[in-house]
Amino acid sequence: MFDQLKAQPADKILALMQAFREDPRDDKIDLGVGVYRNAEGVTPIMRAIKAAERRWWEEETTKAYTGLAGDPAFSEAMIGLVLDDAVSRDQVAAVATPGGTGAVRQAFELSRMANPRARVFVSDPTWPNHLSILKHLGIETVTYRYFDSATGTVDFGGMMDDLEQVAPGDLVLMHGCCHNPTGANLNIRQGHEVMELLNRKGATPMIDIAYQGFGDGLNADAALTRLIAGGCPETLIAASCSKNFGIYRERTGLLMAVARDRGLRGMAQDNLAYLNRQNYSFPPDHGARLVSIVLQDEDLRADWEAELEDVRTGMLALREQLAGELRRLSGSDRYGFIAEHRGMFSRLGLGPDLVERLRKDHGIYMVGDSRINIAGLNRDTVPKLAKAIIEAGG
Ligand code: LMR
Repeated sequence: MFDQLKAQPADKILALMQAFREDPRDDKIDLGVGVYRNAEGVTPIMRAIKAAERRWWEEETTKAYTGLAGDPAFSEAMIGLVLDDAVSRDQVAAVATPGGTGAVRQAFELSRMANPRARVFVSDPTWPNHLSILKHLGIETVTYRYFDSATGTVDFGGMMDDLEQVAPGDLVLMHGCCHNPTGANLNIRQGHEVMELLNRKGATPMIDIAYQGFGDGLNADAALTRLIAGGCPETLIAASCSKNFGIYRERTGLLMAVARDRGLRGMAQDNLAYLNRQNYSFPPDHGARLVSIVLQDEDLRADWEAELEDVRTGMLALREQLAGELRRLSGSDRYGFIAEHRGMFSRLGLGPDLVERLRKDHGIYMVGDSRINIAGLNRDTVPKLAKAIIEAGG
């Protein structure tokens, strides 16, 4: 049987992670995979998570299964964090999933169950794994223009023109904040226009929100998601706790389905629980438990928010520094967009040869499309990166 299998294409981001590990150079710089690192290059366990873990170790009395949808307290806490009071709680179906990726996968499957012919519209570019999962599921994908690489900003006119092609029942995937890979985001006025278009066309929005708190703050980063969920009859939302709670390997995410009424909410909830059962039965609990402890405890929550804010402002300072260095060395403002982008990533607009030279000659690893992870830098490596880019002809 195994001889019938075909080799699968390597995931570019994970392959880069491996290549970086194997590079023996001491001064190599990892700007690849989207994992937060502090100035010492460490991905720390957040203080509030460590405290919650200690508490839960004392309090946990059983490892018996939770429900198929996971612990309801986790869903409650996360719905509050992402949606606040944008929609009534009795319109929101939710299941815990293994990470944000699990939520994305379940959302695509749910839409295929509802309408096997539905197409999914994705931004060009988007997180490569979106495309990979859609291909694996045999769902037709259509790209819409999103990024103007000449200016490093959103090509909003192109996006709206392309979204005119959506048909009733199609799914339109958007990034809630901190667009991956570009770092360029819609503003609220643009969000309104997209919402009106989707409602006019009868398409369903799906929002992948994996970096809430990494851009402009917890509430500002959720504003687009809240607007769409409050203004469209139905919305799917895949939320990840990997980055903002720093619990990557615990695989913690939530899929929310905002329905137009309580009856349809019940239908969505049943189908989501069914999907969990078919794919892996019960979702992982440990990370979800830590998140609900942190969000429900006033002190832990305040400490988590403070630490997250330090992470966010630290990344913003690195953005300013990098944009400043590149301005100084290039004598132009062509990299000014780096300071305007938000989240972990910026797509620099460098060609593949240049990206390759940076890796070979300087041990600087970025994704082939020239996406950098800002959190892979620190105050000392920013000037090195800027110098290498300009010297290599960027
Ligand atoms: C990324 O885009 O680097 C992250 O979302 C990690 C991943 O799984 O690709």
